[in-house]
Amino acid sequence: MNSPLDILTLQPPEAIARPAQPFDVRRIRADFPILGERVRGQPLAYLDNGATAQKPYAVIDALAHYYATQNANVHRGVHHLSQVATDAYEAARRKVASFINAASDREIIFVRGTTEGINLIAQTFGREGVGEGDEIIVSEMEHHSNIVPWWMLCREKGAKLRVIPMNDRGEFRLDAYKTLFSPRTKLVSFVHISNVLGTVNPAAEMVGIAREHGVPVHIDGAQAVPHQRVDVREIDCDFYTFSGHKMFAPTGIGVLYGRETLLESMPPYHGGGSMIQHVDFDEITYADLPNKFEAGTPNIAGSIGLGAAIDYLNSIDFDGAARYEAQLLEYAHAALRAVPDLKLIGTAKHKVGVLSFVLSDIHPHDAGTILDLAGVAVRAGHHCAQPIMKHYDIPAATRASLAFYNTREDIDALVRGLHKVRKVFG
Ligand code: ALA
Repeated sequence: MNSPLDILTLQPPEAIARPAQPFDVRRIRADFPILGERVRGQPLAYLDNGATAQKPYAVIDALAHYYATQNANVHRGVHHLSQVATDAYEAARRKVASFINAASDREIIFVRGTTEGINLIAQTFGREGVGEGDEIIVSEMEHHSNIVPWWMLCREKGAKLRVIPMNDRGEFRLDAYKTLFSPRTKLVSFVHISNVLGTVNPAAEMVGIAREHGVPVHIDGAQAVPHQRVDVREIDCDFYTFSGHKMFAPTGIGVLYGRETLLESMPPYHGGGSMIQHVDFDEITYADLPNKFEAGTPNIAGSIGLGAAIDYLNSIDFDGAARYEAQLLEYAHAALRAVPDLKLIGTAKHKVGVLSFVLSDIHPHDAGTILDLAGVAVRAGHHCAQPIMKHYDIPAATRASLAFYNTREDIDALVRGLHKVRKVFG
């Protein structure tokens, strides 16, 4: 097989975009070179998409094209390449705005990833608006990145976290959520799709409840954007964060969407070049949105790669991909339920392809190691969500997480691997 580098075309991404066709997993897999690799002598069954997704040629090519023909710093130079790089960087921002249906590209802030986006909100909006005795609502289902920044803020300010509980299927208890609001509630921050349970939370309904109390809402969309279309105006949230690398784009690039009026009112996060209008030792004025929040040289290549990933998703019948993934999830659920002594963690009515489980008292790290020998890549551990582990009274779980390029063969390899795990450790 050719290596990815043999196949790089150095074509501008627009030139390799193709019109949407009905979803066909075989054709889609050919777009992702790594899926043809063998691992430990076995065909790779990559089931760790919740941790990071693989990259199509369209993204790999866009990075190579940028570095081979356009590399320069943005917003600074008068020279040709700097203008080309700036145009490509800002075009990526417009693609993101349109992908999530933001009202304006001024509402799109490039950050390193979801974690940085949440820290930005906590350290700007949160620091300004949260005081002693105030409350922030989070949930039992959060990734640590949507707990720790708020916890740190609460410690600093003398504020409190209120926690939305979930039931044993891994669904929010909306009755309890409604009772958490008080006149001191300053923000609600919850996960759109759980990285451990796969639960798709009723984002718009939850925002509606917060609106009745006049409380702004942030949604952690890291696990949502690779699986379904997200429309921030339909959800009506105030902030939405996600990472490029989980949606087939490079690592180190992510997005904070913020309602323009809120972003305007917030102080900057990092200080430095590009985020100012004027600097004197007596007075500094800040740049307009979105530059106010983008100090220093940004991840130019990463942004362009993210734009290429969005072009790719727009070219593949993304809705067909979501339907395919839902069928694959059903197949995987049935296959895993047939494995003796396996307990699924996360059985919500509305969920995407995330399958966490424990297998009798076999440690997930042991299971993960045996699966790796079979070429099956899964994640094992607490998945940066220790409150979820506490809910189920387990120290850790094994997690298989799907993308639209996975197949029934991948699931069959997982199940065969699990039978081996039982043989070795059972
Ligand atoms: N948050 C990522 C995961 O769930 C890293 O694996």
